[in-house]
Amino acid sequence: MKGDIAKIAVLVSGGGTNLQALIDAQEMGIISDGKICLVVSNNRDAFALTRAKNAGIDSAVVCKKDCADQSDFENKIIELLDKNGIDVIVLAGFMSILSEDFTSRYPKRIINVHPSLIPSFCGKGFYGLKVHEEALKKGVKVTGATVHFVNEIPDGGEIIMQKAVDVLPDDTPEVLQKRVMQEAEWIILPMSVQKVCKNLVNA
Ligand code: GAR
Repeated sequence: MKGDIAKIAVLVSGGGTNLQALIDAQEMGIISDGKICLVVSNNRDAFALTRAKNAGIDSAVVCKKDCADQSDFENKIIELLDKNGIDVIVLAGFMSILSEDFTSRYPKRIINVHPSLIPSFCGKGFYGLKVHEEALKKGVKVTGATVHFVNEIPDGGEIIMQKAVDVLPDDTPEVLQKRVMQEAEWIILPMSVQKVCKNLVNA
């Protein structure tokens, strides 16, 4: 793809603050070798869809409950990705585990952000606020975020970037979640996306 720009799809489920960080990074030129062309949500009510609309980015909704099974759900997403010529897929708060059938189609092309320092507090069942609840329960003094490639093992793919964040004495899960987003996720996700896109377009 030398000389090209990587076409990015962002998969979301909720508030979309990581999507916003990507949109802002694109506007600021932090992401220069990729362009966000499509947002796919598995939740019709996700505020992330409003963020996409405000940024003039095409979006689509694929709900699991409207699909026959997991493979139907994934095939509908694949169809959208193919139709839009997508090169890189970013899972930005996408709360659905993708099967090996899906992940093996896009080796080193799917990127996920996880709100802990993998291998702590990760894998099946660890998502969103739950990750921070478990970190506080354990009493860790440092947590953070990880951006990694997605393979068939939940949160098990190759790590691209990590950033540590202090846990403070009076933290609640909500307060800690916000600090991890502000000090880590919103910084390392755009940087990682640019890194992956840059490598792709120079390959
Ligand atoms: C983020 O903290 C993201 O790291 C986490 O969900 C939140 C989504 O927020 N993702 C996971 O836990 C995936 N295992 P956002 O919708 O505002 O970006």
